Amino acid sequence: MSAIVSIQSVCKTYAGGLEALKGINLEIKEGEILALLGPNGAGKTTLISTICGISSLSRGKISVGGMDIEADYRKVRKMIGLVPQEITLEPFETVINSIRFSRGLFGKPKNEAYLDQVLKTLSLFDKKHARVITLSGGMKRRVLIAKALSHEPRVLFLDEPTAGVDVELRKDMWATVNKLKKQGVTIILTTHYIEEAEAIADRIAVINGGEILLVEDKDALMARMGQKKIRIDLMVSVKKIPSKLKNYDLDLTKDGKSLTYTYDTKSERTGITGLLNDLQAAGLQMRDVQTQQSSLEDIFVGLVQENAK
Ligand SMILES: Nc1ncnc2c1ncn2[C@@H]1O[C@H](COP(=O)(O)OP(=O)(O)OP(=O)(O)O)[C@@H](O)[C@H]1O
Ligand SMILES: [Mg+2]
Repeated sequence: MSAIVSIQSVCKTYAGGLEALKGINLEIKEGEILALLGPNGAGKTTLISTICGISSLSRGKISVGGMDIEADYRKVRKMIGLVPQEITLEPFETVINSIRFSRGLFGKPKNEAYLDQVLKTLSLFDKKHARVITLSGGMKRRVLIAKALSHEPRVLFLDEPTAGVDVELRKDMWATVNKLKKQGVTIILTTHYIEEAEAIADRIAVINGGEILLVEDKDALMARMGQKKIRIDLMVSVKKIPSKLKNYDLDLTKDGKSLTYTYDTKSERTGITGLLNDLQAAGLQMRDVQTQQSSLEDIFVGLVQENAK
């Protein structure tokens, strides 16, 4: 897949002197769903705003569909749909008029059939003529998405699309995002919900303090995280791991009192039963056993803490 958005050495310093982006490099592939994870103030909204041309770059270069965002601003903006973090809707306008208006802003000819399709995709068709003020919070979020899709963008940015949305609606939103992906839209979403990234992203980028800490295929990341550890505390400490146990992925703590066994939760055989038998055969007695699972959350928290040092 080729890159539809290319971000090179992008820096952003706000007027007050705050460096919100510190040399971001990121390639977003056509047709993928990329989740941007990061704590409050990491720079997610700033990054999205600079790509969309709402906020100016201090340094670096961004191209969308091969066009420079500054030199070809209008063409680039037409290719992009943005769902902002804050709800910004005219309360007394009807749903359909809101999205007709958005489409008009981009100079697109009327296309009622397309707009109806967008409303159907977002399960909003029965609210087509309802006033925005009469909708629930989750529905309003979906109207924002409908507005962002009104001009048929190829790239859609969703800034916290499910913040404050209940679990069920969140799952509906995931299904919607997947539908859009199937229609060929490239999607970049920011989220604080790690399970959201797990559920829908093809790739995950972690950002903190204006820097990208990691970009990785979700499946590869999950495979890496799918590791589980068991800590086995021994009755009597040992100096080294007995040779009978050399086939297991074991680490001995410095004090010789505990063994840590790492295994892949996804493999059919974890080897735990064999290990417990072999421990006994090697003459080691267990005092206690604890399991430790690493999750995307652990990796995320670990990365962010490491970066904060
Ligand atoms: N208009 C602005 N002027 C000055 N500083 C800003 C402005 N907008 C954001 N910042 C600062 O830039 C940093 C990054 O903010 P940003 O909104 O990009 O974070 P975020 O990752 O989207 O956070 P959140 O998860 O809370 O939405 C923060 O320190 C923030 O205070
Ligand atoms: Mg934000």
